[in-house]
Amino acid sequence: MDQVTVGVVGYGYWGPNLVRNFSEIDCVEVTHICDREPERLSKHRGRYRMTHFTPDYNDLLNDASLNAIVIATPVHTHHELAKQALLAGKHVLVEKPMCATSAQCEELIAIAEEMKLVLMVDHTFVYHGPVRLVKHLIDTDEVGELLYFNSVRVNLGAFQTDVNVVWDLGAHDLSIMDYLIGRTPTDVHAIGKSHTGNGVEDIAYLTLGYEDDLIAHFHVSWLSPVKTRQISIGGSKKMIVFDDSSQVEKVRVYDKGIETMQEPQTERERYKSLIQYRYGDMRAPVYDLSEALKVETLHFIDCIRKGHQPITDGKSGLRVVRLLELAEQSIKTGKPQLLSPLGIK
Ligand SMILES: NC(=O)c1ccc[n+]([C@@H]2O[C@H](COP(=O)([O-])OP(=O)(O)OC[C@H]3O[C@@H](n4cnc5c(N)ncnc54)[C@H](O)[C@@H]3O)[C@@H](O)[C@H]2O)c1
Repeated sequence: MDQVTVGVVGYGYWGPNLVRNFSEIDCVEVTHICDREPERLSKHRGRYRMTHFTPDYNDLLNDASLNAIVIATPVHTHHELAKQALLAGKHVLVEKPMCATSAQCEELIAIAEEMKLVLMVDHTFVYHGPVRLVKHLIDTDEVGELLYFNSVRVNLGAFQTDVNVVWDLGAHDLSIMDYLIGRTPTDVHAIGKSHTGNGVEDIAYLTLGYEDDLIAHFHVSWLSPVKTRQISIGGSKKMIVFDDSSQVEKVRVYDKGIETMQEPQTERERYKSLIQYRYGDMRAPVYDLSEALKVETLHFIDCIRKGHQPITDGKSGLRVVRLLELAEQSIKTGKPQLLSPLGIK
């Protein structure tokens, strides 16, 4: 397939970013933009003169020449819109979180497999240059054995009413963790509070356990005076701080850590600490500065043209939704939730 035709449904806040990036790809034509709110469709009409603006999703489903549908609507609509698109024979890129339940994700994965179509989830940060650099540092064993993953994503707003802060902000960090660590946790423990009276949590803390001593922690909030986007990763060889709020040197690699001594052999050793600290250099490696959404949209088109499995395929979307569900259950019940073997790796 030389030329790929794309239709985008949902033209609110995020949809226009997807349309812009797809429109900038040489072999792609954005033929349809769909939103059920007519005033949303009046945006950018002049910029995309060859594009058909429509409030009717059937216009996309029924157009046999349309190859792919990109879904940028609220999460409770993802499953139905994606299912219709796949059954109409369209490749699908769906926004994060993939669906409202893991059962819905599983159904979409099965349909895509059956229909031999690309099903990809917009876990945007996985395509972000600094995150790809951190993945390289982990995969090439520069970091060593992973000890902890600590993430803070907090700011003031934007309060949502249909999903809580875990589903809104936490989905990003869980997808980054899923990509970087590449292992399924064993348990999820979460607490969260709503401060608006509507029961939708605006602050939450999640802790994930693993089979070994790795521990992951996430702090997400819409109620912070300062915007923070920071992930720290500790390894037995190096430690990494990824600060996405920083304009430069977003990734810093610290040659710091500890060495634990063997059992003391002599009386003199008994008086010395069993922990030795390592204070080495810090370096800030360069990373790809490309817009994450540009890298991602190119990857989606590449997967369609070459029949490849996307990095953020339906299964990665499912793993994230499963963790979001368990975090929500933990918040509601006050109890840690165990992950039964997911069977989805
Ligand atoms: N990847 C990211 O970094 C990122 C960032 C922001 C939002 N998102 C995701 O994008 C999605 C949309 O978020 P948003 O902030 O743009 O929301 P939004 O409310 O600004 O826009 C959603 C649009 O979808 C339209 N819509 C809803 N149901 C529809 C339907 N059945 N048919 C046609 N149009 C319909 C609405 O009219 C609205 O214009 C969400 O899933 C969100 O999680 C992802």
